Amino acid sequence: SLASSDHLRHVESMTQLPSGAGQISHLNAVILGEPLASEENDLVFPSHDFSRQALVSSPEQYWKMYKRSVEDPAGFWSEIASQFYWREKWYPEVYSENIDVSKGTVKFEWFKGARTNICYNAVDQNVEAGNGGKVAIYWEGNEPGDDGQLTYAELLEKICQLANYLKHVGVQKGDAVVIYLPMLMELPITMLACARIGAVHSVVFAGFSAESLAQRIIDCKPKVVITCNAVKRGSKAIHLKEIVDSALVESDKNGVPVGLCLTFENQSAMKREDTKWTEGRDVWWQDVVPQFPTKCAVEWVDAEDPLFLLYTSGSTGKPKGVLHTAGGYMVYTATTFKYAFDYKPSDIYWCTADCGWITGHSYVTYGPLLNGATVVVFEGAPNYPDSGRCWDIVDKYKVTIFYTAPTLVRSLMREGNEYVTHYSRKSLRVLGSVGEPINPSAWRWFYNVVGDSRCPISDTWWQTETGGFMITPLPGAWSQKPGSATFPFFGVQPVIVDEKGNEIEGECSGYLCIKRSWPGAFRTLYGDHERYETTYFKPFAGYYFTGDGCSRDKDGYYWLTGRVDDVINVSGHRIGTAEVESALVSHPHCAEAAVVGVEHEIKGQGIYAFVTLVEGVPYSEELRKSLILVVRNQIGAFAAPDKIHWAPGLPKTRSGKIMRRILRKIASRQLDELGDTSTLADPSVVDQLIALSDC
Ligand code: WTA
Repeated sequence: SLASSDHLRHVESMTQLPSGAGQISHLNAVILGEPLASEENDLVFPSHDFSRQALVSSPEQYWKMYKRSVEDPAGFWSEIASQFYWREKWYPEVYSENIDVSKGTVKFEWFKGARTNICYNAVDQNVEAGNGGKVAIYWEGNEPGDDGQLTYAELLEKICQLANYLKHVGVQKGDAVVIYLPMLMELPITMLACARIGAVHSVVFAGFSAESLAQRIIDCKPKVVITCNAVKRGSKAIHLKEIVDSALVESDKNGVPVGLCLTFENQSAMKREDTKWTEGRDVWWQDVVPQFPTKCAVEWVDAEDPLFLLYTSGSTGKPKGVLHTAGGYMVYTATTFKYAFDYKPSDIYWCTADCGWITGHSYVTYGPLLNGATVVVFEGAPNYPDSGRCWDIVDKYKVTIFYTAPTLVRSLMREGNEYVTHYSRKSLRVLGSVGEPINPSAWRWFYNVVGDSRCPISDTWWQTETGGFMITPLPGAWSQKPGSATFPFFGVQPVIVDEKGNEIEGECSGYLCIKRSWPGAFRTLYGDHERYETTYFKPFAGYYFTGDGCSRDKDGYYWLTGRVDDVINVSGHRIGTAEVESALVSHPHCAEAAVVGVEHEIKGQGIYAFVTLVEGVPYSEELRKSLILVVRNQIGAFAAPDKIHWAPGLPKTRSGKIMRRILRKIASRQLDELGDTSTLADPSVVDQLIALSDC
């Protein structure tokens, strides 16, 4: 059906492409492709039934919209933005930008001058439209059977009570609030309450250690930290409040005292009586918040006012505070959610990401609620009590859109199909993947076994910095290729450049950059606009540099190939190798450390650390454990090295630079690909390292 003569006519008329959109000229091949899934051409087509009901149901419909979005971004986005509530319209322009460092400060502005509120759009608007009785959040606890739900009207009341409390304790527009909560309903509630009063939330993933939390608190100086006493992950209770306590001691020592720690009592994990308490600073949520009125006036903010800060890893040891603003982020997350998942009001949507990461911000909280969706929020671990838990949840809530990370797909795949096939899963209609490239075999298992070969997979490529999807399938529009994120979203102009920053056309591979701004783009790194420019806009002047490698095939499909900088993706968690190194070298027995990513069957990438010990200290199993512990304590358990490789010396150039290329080869045992080692100050260290590989 997709290769009708109509399509052909469109293909012909599409051969003259507007400048800047040449990268998808190969879309033609997709339209002409054989409408069958087959190993040879690796094309997996959406079913006719799916396409027919889809929001975007053909390549040419996409093409028309895409073409408009890049030729007339102001017209395209203002039309979409008009569907939101704005207290005042933008003035005088829809957007303005300078992406080119050589032409001055990098600056993106969307809908500047407009006044709006993302909480109002995500919640009040749905209630006012008559959907107050619709379930906004289904909450599934760690223990099966422990659950709850909130309608949009109830959600609004909860948000207002907290917003009123925050105002009462002096939180004002522009103030930072740090949130260190697990996946309770209170997490999205808190984010939305902050947004409602114009406060800037900074959610810290509740798997980060006290030191990492302290570092973030010190950077953004919040008026309040919001947490809960404990959470159960699987069968283990984690005392979050104690982590916050240590972080607050640390931040206080660094001149950032925080006067208030609002603590939610998570009774299923820990009783109030057992919680350590600092009188005068700590307040139980349940003691104060419910006493406040269930209505709270909205703070109208400028579209360019900050909405949130989210710290992410880069190539230095210091995390970057990625700053997103209210208006553009709102329009972008809502629109990407709608199209990439082909969202319909009857959908039940579940994203397994934690709100501590960008995926949870954009696609647990904001994007779905802005669309009036029903969202499942899951507190627990996907393999507890057993590996069938996800599908149990899918059946329980009749989930129609299921969005997760390749690492989970791979780990469940290993447990066997029975855990999946035991459940019906017939409610599912769209699957999604994010966080790292999904390998074709995991893609196929996800498609064939989980989705019974009938649910398209939206493999969404994007970043903390981009706010929302950048390259993603539109599930009803075109055929998919297992492992490819396919084509750019509306308004996004990806380019692949070579080492010198020259754009490469057609079939190629190189560095992935983006030309022109998009509404969801981050606006700066908090307190460090210079680092923003240096990291993202200077490497290839005139473009936003993503840090990812990418290739484009003969059909124009994009294939993300992983980070090209010193960032690694471990189980979809973004970690800077420099952060792990700086944790390791803080150990008194560690003289030097070099960390590289290495392929890992389940996690995608594992953390491989080369460690040089202080003169005279012997290697021991105990020392290995204590080095790993140092990383767990300083960053979090998710950053623990998988392998410590004792290194009497590290391969360095004569100028003292560590040759990571060689370390990566040693780590992945590609010993015949070490390349030229003659430029090393001491080439013999390579042999020593190889000899110590299995210690
Ligand atoms: C990687 C997560 C391939 C990529 C949303 C990017 C992906 C980094 C994909 C950002 C995907 C994310 N295919 N790679 N579908 N999605 N990545 O900031 O390397 O935590 O640069 O944002 O994850 O990670 P971040």
